[in-house]
Amino acid sequence: MTNRLSAAAVVMISALAVPGSPVRADKKITLGFSQIGAESEWRTANTKSIKESADAAGINLKFSDAQQKQENQIKAIRAFIAQKVDVIAFSPVVETGWEPVLREAKAAKIPVILTDRSVNVKDDSLWVSFMGSDFVEEGRRAANWLVDKTKDAAGPVNIVELQGTVGSAPAIDRKKGFEEIIKDKAKYKIIRSQTGDFTRAKGKEVMEAFLKAEGKKINVLFAHNDDMAIGAIQAIEEAGLKPGKDILIVSIDGVKGAFQAMMAGKLNVSVECSPLLGPQLMSAVKDLMAGKALPKRIVTQEGVFPQEVAAKEFPNRKY
Ligand code: AHR
Repeated sequence: MTNRLSAAAVVMISALAVPGSPVRADKKITLGFSQIGAESEWRTANTKSIKESADAAGINLKFSDAQQKQENQIKAIRAFIAQKVDVIAFSPVVETGWEPVLREAKAAKIPVILTDRSVNVKDDSLWVSFMGSDFVEEGRRAANWLVDKTKDAAGPVNIVELQGTVGSAPAIDRKKGFEEIIKDKAKYKIIRSQTGDFTRAKGKEVMEAFLKAEGKKINVLFAHNDDMAIGAIQAIEEAGLKPGKDILIVSIDGVKGAFQAMMAGKLNVSVECSPLLGPQLMSAVKDLMAGKALPKRIVTQEGVFPQEVAAKEFPNRKY
């Protein structure tokens, strides 16, 4: 198990992308960024990272918050095209439905960088580079921790799953990675699985419903992000059970709120997903504008933080 903080990124695939048209060195670069919303502690940290890095890099940032709606992201991207920004970057709320607007950006010769989440489009030339986490690997790491933690349990190990936003890359991939690890181990059973939309309020609400339906049968909660786990912790306590003890809780992100829950003994592990993508994005934008080719995929390096290391690691956490 790795316990490592890192905002660094490694280049995994070095397919070269078409760079944007070089701009004069004295011209300020304008970047249009469409953010998903403010659904989680993670997202707030991601927005902060992007705004602060743009400022530090001297990039003129046009920032738009889509309030978790794809139609708002599409509108924002169209507005960036109309304003003739130099580069567009966005974190797509869901994977599908982006072809038309991406074709419009390509026709306007504005390069598009994907951050955090990817898109599912047939023509990969519609975007230049994708930087962010490997969500399938995060799901695998969550399951590997659980398998190790419960290796001596006779079973069954009954799991309830709080999924992220329906159709989003992290919800699809984290589920896939988690299931890949447990599928050939008969004692692990996902007995309930439902979306909590990556929010605390929804995480609590859905966990209440799980507890009502399954009660003490639930051994484990796998939450696709820390915010839903934190909401679910409240529901578990209100049901008179001890989160982290009566029900093991595995979640993803590694936000400060999760570390506080681990230090209180209420959350068992958080798999890191770094939101600190701002510096990397700004340097990619500058490279692109200088006529340099970008790697098609840049994967963020991340660790796994079990409860036992939370207090020691907490002072190092940046988000
Ligand atoms: O896309 C990253 C995910 O989106 C984070 O895990 C979650 O907290 C956020 O809302």
